[in-house]
Amino acid sequence: MGITVEHDFDLTALNTFGVSAIAQTYVRINDDADFPQAVSIANALAGYRGIFVLGGGSNVLFTQQYNGCVLHVDTKGMRELSDNVVEAMAGESWHRFVMWSLELGYCGLENLSLIYGTVGGAPIQNIGAYGVELREVFHSCDVISRETGEAKRLSADDCRFGYRDSFFKSFVGREWIVRRVRLRLSRSPALRLAYGDVRNELLAQGIIEATPMDVSRAVQAIRTRKLPDPVLLGNAGSFFKNPVIPAAQYDDLKLRYPDALHYPDHDGWVKVPAAWLIDQCGFKGERRGAAGVHAHHALVLVNHGGATGESLWVLAQEIIASVEAKFRITLEPEPLVL
Ligand code: EPU
Repeated sequence: MGITVEHDFDLTALNTFGVSAIAQTYVRINDDADFPQAVSIANALAGYRGIFVLGGGSNVLFTQQYNGCVLHVDTKGMRELSDNVVEAMAGESWHRFVMWSLELGYCGLENLSLIYGTVGGAPIQNIGAYGVELREVFHSCDVISRETGEAKRLSADDCRFGYRDSFFKSFVGREWIVRRVRLRLSRSPALRLAYGDVRNELLAQGIIEATPMDVSRAVQAIRTRKLPDPVLLGNAGSFFKNPVIPAAQYDDLKLRYPDALHYPDHDGWVKVPAAWLIDQCGFKGERRGAAGVHAHHALVLVNHGGATGESLWVLAQEIIASVEAKFRITLEPEPLVL
Protein backbone atom coordinates (compact mmCIF):
# COMPACT_ATOMS: atom_id res chain seq x y z
CA MET A 1 0.00 0.00 0.00
CA GLY A 2 1.28 3.49 -0.86
CA ILE A 3 0.09 5.17 2.34
CA THR A 4 2.30 5.98 5.36
CA VAL A 5 0.91 7.35 8.63
CA GLU A 6 3.03 9.12 11.30
CA HIS A 7 2.32 11.05 14.49
CA ASP A 8 4.19 14.17 15.70
CA PHE A 9 6.00 14.29 12.39
CA ASP A 10 8.81 16.82 11.78
CA LEU A 11 8.21 18.83 8.58
CA THR A 12 11.60 20.61 8.50
CA ALA A 13 12.85 18.65 5.48
CA LEU A 14 9.51 19.03 3.68
CA ASN A 15 9.35 22.84 3.41
CA THR A 16 11.85 24.82 1.32
CA PHE A 17 12.12 27.51 4.03
CA GLY A 18 13.58 24.71 6.18
CA VAL A 19 11.73 25.92 9.27
CA SER A 20 10.91 23.44 11.95
CA ALA A 21 7.25 22.53 12.44
CA ILE A 22 5.56 19.46 13.83
CA ALA A 23 2.44 17.96 12.27
CA GLN A 24 0.26 16.27 14.84
CA THR A 25 -0.52 13.62 12.23
CA TYR A 26 0.99 13.04 8.82
CA VAL A 27 -0.20 10.87 5.93
CA ARG A 28 1.97 10.34 2.86
CA ILE A 29 0.57 8.91 -0.34
CA ASN A 30 2.81 7.67 -3.16
CA ASP A 31 0.36 5.71 -5.28
CA ASP A 32 -2.40 7.61 -7.07
CA ALA A 33 -4.75 4.61 -6.80
CA ASP A 34 -4.77 4.99 -3.00
CA PHE A 35 -6.04 8.58 -3.04
CA PRO A 36 -9.61 7.92 -1.84
CA GLN A 37 -8.35 5.79 1.04
CA ALA A 38 -5.61 8.28 1.99
CA VAL A 39 -8.14 11.14 2.10
CA SER A 40 -10.46 9.16 4.31
CA ILE A 41 -7.60 8.19 6.69
CA ALA A 42 -6.42 11.82 6.82
CA ASN A 43 -9.96 13.00 7.56
CA ALA A 44 -10.37 10.53 10.39
CA LEU A 45 -7.04 11.65 11.92
CA ALA A 46 -7.61 15.38 11.39
CA GLY A 47 -11.07 15.60 12.92
CA TYR A 48 -12.45 19.13 12.95
CA ARG A 49 -8.95 20.61 12.51
CA GLY A 50 -8.83 19.65 8.86
CA ILE A 51 -6.29 18.48 6.34
CA PHE A 52 -3.40 20.53 5.00
CA VAL A 53 -2.24 19.27 1.61
CA LEU A 54 1.52 19.41 1.18
CA GLY A 55 3.28 19.03 -2.17
CA GLY A 56 6.84 20.28 -2.58
CA GLY A 57 6.54 22.61 0.43
CA SER A 58 7.88 25.44 -1.72
CA ASN A 59 5.02 27.84 -1.15
CA VAL A 60 4.23 27.59 2.52
CA LEU A 61 5.52 29.19 5.72
CA PHE A 62 4.81 27.20 8.86
CA THR A 63 4.74 29.58 11.83
CA GLN A 64 3.67 27.04 14.42
CA GLN A 65 2.88 23.37 15.02
CA TYR A 66 0.12 22.04 12.72
CA ASN A 67 -2.57 20.45 14.85
CA GLY A 68 -4.52 18.83 12.05
CA CYS A 69 -3.33 16.24 9.55
CA VAL A 70 -0.78 16.97 6.84
CA LEU A 71 -1.52 14.97 3.69
CA HIS A 72 1.72 14.76 1.75
CA VAL A 73 1.06 14.08 -1.92
CA ASP A 74 4.12 12.21 -3.20
CA THR A 75 2.64 10.43 -6.24
CA LYS A 76 4.96 10.22 -9.26
CA GLY A 77 4.61 9.55 -12.98
CA MET A 78 4.31 11.33 -16.33
CA ARG A 79 2.91 10.18 -19.66
CA GLU A 80 1.96 11.36 -23.12
CA LEU A 81 -1.71 11.22 -24.08
CA SER A 82 -3.02 11.99 -27.57
CA ASP A 83 -3.13 15.40 -29.31
CA ASN A 84 -0.01 16.86 -27.66
CA VAL A 85 -1.51 16.44 -24.21
CA VAL A 86 0.83 15.35 -21.43
CA GLU A 87 -0.12 14.29 -17.92
CA ALA A 88 1.72 14.15 -14.60
CA MET A 89 0.81 13.00 -11.13
CA ALA A 90 0.44 15.75 -8.53
CA GLY A 91 3.52 14.77 -6.52
CA GLU A 92 5.86 14.82 -9.51
CA SER A 93 8.57 17.51 -9.47
CA TRP A 94 7.48 20.45 -11.65
CA HIS A 95 10.98 21.00 -13.03
CA ARG A 96 11.37 17.29 -13.90
CA PHE A 97 8.06 17.50 -15.78
CA VAL A 98 9.33 20.56 -17.70
CA MET A 99 12.61 18.85 -18.65
CA TRP A 100 10.85 15.61 -19.62
CA SER A 101 8.49 17.52 -21.96
CA LEU A 102 11.37 19.42 -23.57
CA GLU A 103 13.34 16.22 -24.12
CA LEU A 104 10.31 14.72 -25.88
CA GLY A 105 10.40 17.69 -28.27
CA TYR A 106 7.48 19.67 -26.81
CA CYS A 107 7.47 23.45 -26.54
CA GLY A 108 5.51 25.53 -24.02
CA LEU A 109 7.10 24.98 -20.62
CA GLU A 110 10.62 26.32 -21.26
CA ASN A 111 9.97 29.70 -19.57
CA LEU A 112 8.67 27.86 -16.50
CA SER A 113 11.94 25.99 -15.89
CA LEU A 114 13.47 25.63 -12.43
CA ILE A 115 10.38 26.56 -10.45
CA TYR A 116 10.53 24.58 -7.22
CA GLY A 117 7.53 22.59 -6.10
CA THR A 118 5.31 19.90 -7.50
CA VAL A 119 2.91 19.54 -10.42
CA GLY A 120 -0.07 19.57 -8.03
CA GLY A 121 0.84 23.03 -6.75
CA ALA A 122 1.15 24.52 -10.24
CA PRO A 123 -2.58 25.15 -10.92
CA ILE A 124 -3.26 26.35 -7.39
CA GLN A 125 -0.78 29.21 -7.84
CA ASN A 126 -1.16 29.45 -11.62
CA ILE A 127 2.63 29.51 -11.59
CA GLY A 128 4.23 32.01 -13.91
CA ALA A 129 7.64 33.30 -14.93
CA TYR A 130 9.30 35.22 -17.76
CA GLY A 131 6.08 36.20 -19.49
CA VAL A 132 4.31 32.80 -19.37
CA GLU A 133 1.68 31.47 -16.98
CA LEU A 134 0.50 27.91 -16.49
CA ARG A 135 -3.03 28.80 -17.66
CA GLU A 136 -1.76 29.23 -21.23
CA VAL A 137 -0.91 25.51 -21.52
CA PHE A 138 -3.36 24.07 -19.00
CA HIS A 139 -5.71 21.37 -20.35
CA SER A 140 -7.47 19.90 -17.29
CA CYS A 141 -6.87 18.33 -13.91
CA ASP A 142 -8.38 15.51 -11.88
CA VAL A 143 -9.35 16.42 -8.34
CA ILE A 144 -10.78 14.69 -5.29
CA SER A 145 -12.92 16.24 -2.56
CA ARG A 146 -11.25 16.37 0.83
CA GLU A 147 -14.71 16.21 2.39
CA THR A 148 -16.60 13.50 0.49
CA GLY A 149 -13.96 11.72 -1.60
CA GLU A 150 -15.90 12.61 -4.79
CA ALA A 151 -13.67 12.68 -7.88
CA LYS A 152 -14.07 14.98 -10.88
CA ARG A 153 -12.27 16.66 -13.75
CA LEU A 154 -11.81 20.45 -13.95
CA SER A 155 -11.26 22.37 -17.18
CA ALA A 156 -9.16 25.55 -17.50
CA ASP A 157 -12.37 27.61 -17.22
CA ASP A 158 -13.38 25.76 -14.05
CA CYS A 159 -10.00 26.66 -12.53
CA ARG A 160 -10.63 30.44 -12.97
CA PHE A 161 -6.94 31.31 -13.18
CA GLY A 162 -5.67 34.78 -12.25
CA TYR A 163 -2.28 36.24 -11.35
CA ARG A 164 -0.90 33.72 -8.81
CA ASP A 165 -4.54 32.82 -8.19
CA SER A 166 -7.15 30.17 -9.03
CA PHE A 167 -10.47 28.62 -8.03
CA PHE A 168 -8.49 26.44 -5.57
CA LYS A 169 -7.81 29.48 -3.37
CA SER A 170 -11.51 30.37 -3.13
CA PHE A 171 -13.74 29.26 -0.26
CA VAL A 172 -15.44 26.52 -2.33
CA GLY A 173 -12.28 25.65 -4.24
CA ARG A 174 -10.41 24.75 -1.07
CA GLU A 175 -12.40 21.52 -0.87
CA TRP A 176 -10.57 20.03 -3.86
CA ILE A 177 -7.21 18.25 -3.89
CA VAL A 178 -5.32 18.04 -7.20
CA ARG A 179 -4.48 14.47 -8.22
CA ARG A 180 -3.29 14.69 -11.84
CA VAL A 181 -2.61 17.62 -14.18
CA ARG A 182 -2.82 17.60 -17.99
CA LEU A 183 -1.25 20.24 -20.23
CA ARG A 184 -1.60 20.88 -23.96
CA LEU A 185 1.83 21.60 -25.42
CA SER A 186 2.99 22.23 -28.96
CA ARG A 187 5.39 20.50 -31.34
CA SER A 188 6.16 23.70 -33.25
CA PRO A 189 8.21 26.16 -31.22
CA ALA A 190 6.52 29.51 -30.52
CA LEU A 191 9.12 30.98 -28.21
CA ARG A 192 8.27 33.79 -25.81
CA LEU A 193 11.32 36.00 -25.49
CA ALA A 194 9.69 39.37 -24.79
CA TYR A 195 10.80 39.32 -21.14
CA GLY A 196 14.03 41.31 -21.45
CA ASP A 197 16.17 39.12 -19.23
CA VAL A 198 15.58 36.05 -21.41
CA ARG A 199 16.47 37.72 -24.70
CA ASN A 200 19.58 39.33 -23.17
CA GLU A 201 20.70 36.04 -21.66
CA LEU A 202 20.40 34.29 -25.06
CA LEU A 203 22.32 37.11 -26.75
CA ALA A 204 25.01 36.97 -24.07
CA GLN A 205 25.35 33.26 -24.83
CA GLY A 206 25.65 34.08 -28.56
CA ILE A 207 22.41 32.26 -29.44
CA ILE A 208 20.47 33.78 -32.34
CA GLU A 209 18.12 30.94 -33.38
CA ALA A 210 17.04 29.63 -30.00
CA THR A 211 15.44 26.23 -29.41
CA PRO A 212 13.01 25.63 -26.50
CA MET A 213 15.88 23.88 -24.69
CA ASP A 214 18.09 26.99 -25.16
CA VAL A 215 15.34 29.13 -23.61
CA SER A 216 15.05 26.70 -20.71
CA ARG A 217 18.81 26.88 -20.12
CA ALA A 218 18.70 30.70 -20.28
CA VAL A 219 15.86 30.83 -17.75
CA GLN A 220 17.72 28.41 -15.49
CA ALA A 221 20.84 30.59 -15.68
CA ILE A 222 18.88 33.75 -14.77
CA ARG A 223 17.04 32.06 -11.91
CA THR A 224 20.24 30.52 -10.56
CA ARG A 225 21.89 33.95 -10.50
CA LYS A 226 18.96 35.82 -8.93
CA LEU A 227 17.19 33.35 -6.69
CA PRO A 228 18.77 31.30 -3.91
CA ASP A 229 18.78 27.49 -4.11
CA PRO A 230 16.58 26.33 -1.21
CA VAL A 231 18.94 23.43 -0.56
CA LEU A 232 21.63 25.99 0.34
CA LEU A 233 19.50 28.85 1.70
CA GLY A 234 15.91 28.26 2.82
CA ASN A 235 13.34 30.33 0.90
CA ALA A 236 10.00 30.11 -0.91
CA GLY A 237 10.75 32.22 -4.01
CA SER A 238 8.89 35.53 -4.17
CA PHE A 239 7.43 36.15 -0.73
CA PHE A 240 5.00 38.87 -1.89
CA LYS A 241 2.81 39.26 -4.96
CA ASN A 242 3.50 42.22 -7.21
CA PRO A 243 0.74 44.67 -6.20
CA VAL A 244 -1.75 45.89 -8.78
CA ILE A 245 -2.63 49.56 -8.20
CA PRO A 246 -4.84 52.18 -9.97
CA ALA A 247 -2.99 53.91 -12.83
CA ALA A 248 -3.68 57.29 -11.17
CA GLN A 249 -1.88 56.15 -8.01
CA TYR A 250 1.04 54.99 -10.15
CA ASP A 251 1.21 58.38 -11.91
CA ASP A 252 1.49 60.00 -8.51
CA LEU A 253 4.22 57.52 -7.50
CA LYS A 254 6.12 58.23 -10.71
CA LEU A 255 6.12 61.97 -9.93
CA ARG A 256 7.77 61.29 -6.60
CA TYR A 257 10.01 58.44 -7.85
CA PRO A 258 10.81 58.93 -11.56
CA ASP A 259 12.57 55.54 -11.74
CA ALA A 260 9.50 53.63 -10.45
CA LEU A 261 8.90 50.61 -12.71
CA HIS A 262 5.59 49.08 -13.78
CA TYR A 263 4.02 46.43 -15.99
CA PRO A 264 0.68 47.06 -17.70
CA ASP A 265 -2.29 45.22 -16.19
CA HIS A 266 -6.03 45.29 -16.89
CA ASP A 267 -7.63 48.59 -17.93
CA GLY A 268 -6.83 51.49 -15.60
CA TRP A 269 -4.49 49.41 -13.40
CA VAL A 270 -0.76 48.73 -13.35
CA LYS A 271 1.39 46.14 -11.63
CA VAL A 272 4.33 47.45 -9.62
CA PRO A 273 7.34 45.24 -8.78
CA ALA A 274 7.18 44.50 -5.06
CA ALA A 275 10.95 43.90 -5.17
CA TRP A 276 11.50 47.54 -6.14
CA LEU A 277 9.20 48.85 -3.36
CA ILE A 278 10.97 46.72 -0.75
CA ASP A 279 14.37 47.68 -2.10
CA GLN A 280 13.45 51.40 -1.79
CA CYS A 281 12.65 50.78 1.88
CA GLY A 282 16.21 49.54 2.36
CA PHE A 283 15.50 45.90 3.17
CA LYS A 284 17.72 44.15 0.62
CA GLY A 285 20.26 42.03 2.48
CA GLU A 286 18.77 43.02 5.88
CA ARG A 287 18.72 40.44 8.69
CA ARG A 288 16.75 40.02 11.88
CA GLY A 289 18.75 37.22 13.45
CA ALA A 290 18.54 34.22 11.12
CA ALA A 291 15.56 35.65 9.21
CA GLY A 292 16.59 37.84 6.30
CA VAL A 293 15.94 39.41 2.92
CA HIS A 294 18.06 37.95 0.13
CA ALA A 295 21.07 40.09 -0.80
CA HIS A 296 20.40 39.69 -4.56
CA HIS A 297 16.60 39.97 -4.63
CA ALA A 298 14.48 42.03 -2.26
CA LEU A 299 11.36 39.91 -2.85
CA VAL A 300 12.86 36.75 -1.38
CA LEU A 301 12.87 36.10 2.36
CA VAL A 302 15.56 33.67 3.46
CA ASN A 303 16.36 31.45 6.39
CA HIS A 304 20.07 31.88 7.14
CA GLY A 305 19.92 28.78 9.35
CA GLY A 306 17.72 28.07 12.33
CA ALA A 307 15.18 30.87 11.71
CA THR A 308 11.72 30.08 13.03
CA GLY A 309 8.68 30.50 10.83
CA GLU A 310 7.42 33.03 13.32
CA SER A 311 10.56 35.20 13.00
CA LEU A 312 10.26 35.16 9.19
CA TRP A 313 6.62 36.21 9.52
CA VAL A 314 7.58 39.06 11.91
CA LEU A 315 10.10 40.27 9.30
CA ALA A 316 7.44 40.00 6.56
CA GLN A 317 5.10 42.17 8.63
CA GLU A 318 7.84 44.73 9.21
CA ILE A 319 8.31 44.92 5.42
CA ILE A 320 4.54 45.25 4.81
CA ALA A 321 4.33 48.10 7.35
CA SER A 322 7.34 49.88 5.92
CA VAL A 323 6.10 49.69 2.28
CA GLU A 324 2.66 50.84 3.42
CA ALA A 325 4.10 53.85 5.28
CA LYS A 326 6.32 54.92 2.37
CA PHE A 327 4.11 54.15 -0.64
CA ARG A 328 0.54 53.61 0.68
CA ILE A 329 0.60 50.19 -1.02
CA THR A 330 -0.28 47.02 0.90
CA LEU A 331 1.79 43.97 -0.01
CA GLU A 332 0.18 40.54 0.11
CA PRO A 333 2.19 37.41 0.91
CA GLU A 334 2.44 34.94 -1.95
CA PRO A 335 2.99 31.72 0.03
CA LEU A 336 0.42 30.32 2.37
CA VAL A 337 1.23 31.38 5.93
CA LEU A 338 0.06 28.74 8.40
N1 EPU B 1 14.12 44.72 -8.53
C1 EPU B 1 14.55 45.62 -7.58
N2 EPU B 1 15.24 45.14 -6.51
C2 EPU B 1 15.50 43.83 -6.35
C3 EPU B 1 15.07 42.91 -7.32
C4 EPU B 1 14.36 43.38 -8.42
O1 EPU B 1 14.32 46.82 -7.69
O2 EPU B 1 16.12 43.46 -5.34
C5 EPU B 1 13.37 45.22 -9.68
C6 EPU B 1 14.11 44.83 -10.96
O3 EPU B 1 14.85 45.90 -11.42
C7 EPU B 1 13.04 44.39 -11.90
C8 EPU B 1 11.78 44.28 -11.09
O4 EPU B 1 12.10 44.60 -9.75
O5 EPU B 1 12.84 45.35 -12.91
C9 EPU B 1 11.19 42.89 -11.17
O6 EPU B 1 12.14 41.92 -10.75
P1 EPU B 1 12.19 40.46 -11.42
O7 EPU B 1 12.34 40.56 -12.89
O8 EPU B 1 13.19 39.65 -10.69
O9 EPU B 1 10.75 39.87 -11.22
P2 EPU B 1 9.76 39.90 -9.96
O10 EPU B 1 8.60 40.77 -10.31
O11 EPU B 1 10.47 40.19 -8.70
C10 EPU B 1 8.29 37.92 -10.84
C11 EPU B 1 7.71 36.68 -10.21
C12 EPU B 1 8.78 35.60 -10.14
C13 EPU B 1 9.27 35.31 -11.55
C14 EPU B 1 9.83 36.59 -12.16
C15 EPU B 1 10.21 36.41 -13.60
C16 EPU B 1 5.96 37.43 -8.72
C17 EPU B 1 5.55 37.65 -7.30
N3 EPU B 1 7.20 36.98 -8.90
O12 EPU B 1 9.30 38.37 -9.94
O13 EPU B 1 8.18 34.43 -9.61
O14 EPU B 1 10.26 34.30 -11.55
O15 EPU B 1 8.82 37.63 -12.12
O16 EPU B 1 9.07 36.29 -14.37
O17 EPU B 1 5.16 37.65 -9.63
C18 EPU B 1 7.76 33.27 -7.57
O18 EPU B 1 6.56 33.44 -7.81
O19 EPU B 1 8.17 32.64 -6.56
C19 EPU B 1 8.74 33.81 -8.50
C20 EPU B 1 10.05 33.71 -8.28
